[in-house]
Amino acid sequence: MGRKVIGLLGSPLTEGNTAKLLERALQGARDAGCETETIQVSTLSFEPCMEMMFCREHDTCIMDDDMQPMYGKIREMDGLILATPVMTMGVPGKLKGFMDRFQVFFMAKYVRKQPLVSKEQKKNRRTLFICISGMKIPGVFDGIKKSVLAFLTIIDCPLWDEILIPDMDTIQDISKRPDLLDTAYQKGLALGKLLTAS
Ligand SMILES: Cc1cc2nc3c(=O)[nH]c(=O)nc-3n(C[C@H](O)[C@H](O)[C@H](O)COP(=O)(O)O)c2cc1C
Repeated sequence: MGRKVIGLLGSPLTEGNTAKLLERALQGARDAGCETETIQVSTLSFEPCMEMMFCREHDTCIMDDDMQPMYGKIREMDGLILATPVMTMGVPGKLKGFMDRFQVFFMAKYVRKQPLVSKEQKKNRRTLFICISGMKIPGVFDGIKKSVLAFLTIIDCPLWDEILIPDMDTIQDISKRPDLLDTAYQKGLALGKLLTAS
């Protein structure tokens, strides 16, 4: 059966270093036979969660904006490649806003005990996390990882593998590091193979 992988880009630069790594990983997934779609969070028009709590009782959010089609896409996908830079030691603001709007999934799963992702579907869902940081300092990925792991638990698409690249301020242009781009491709390919085999 055809498998769908979503590439979620947290960088505002749609042709920056994170975007290049994401595209290589998605190419790997396509070469493994998956269909892919990229969601560029920075191009979506939405507000942060306003805690209206409509989702306490309903399978969606009352805020009528670009997040509406996202719930179906994240619900239906088989795999996720989440690629983002570190900002202020954590998740870039717009991506964090995107994640927070998945309170819709949180309420369904933990409050109403009716998860939006079925047990059967959850068994095979996997995430590849790609993250880059400007600095090379201990713990630079700690903050972002906590939020990302919480998000992946909420949407029932567990972490499968990760590529964490520090020191981008020195590397500057990822194109100068074909080894890192190849790692992204190989992990995307491996994720795709895993999904198509399941
Ligand atoms: C607003 C902002 C905040 C940042 N905060 C951090 C930080 O806390 N730690 C760090 O190591 N790098 C930080 N960076 C650097 C980015 O992680 C780095 O430049 C990354 O390569 C950007 O990826 P991109 O060009 O694909 O968007 C920050 C960059 C921006 C623009």
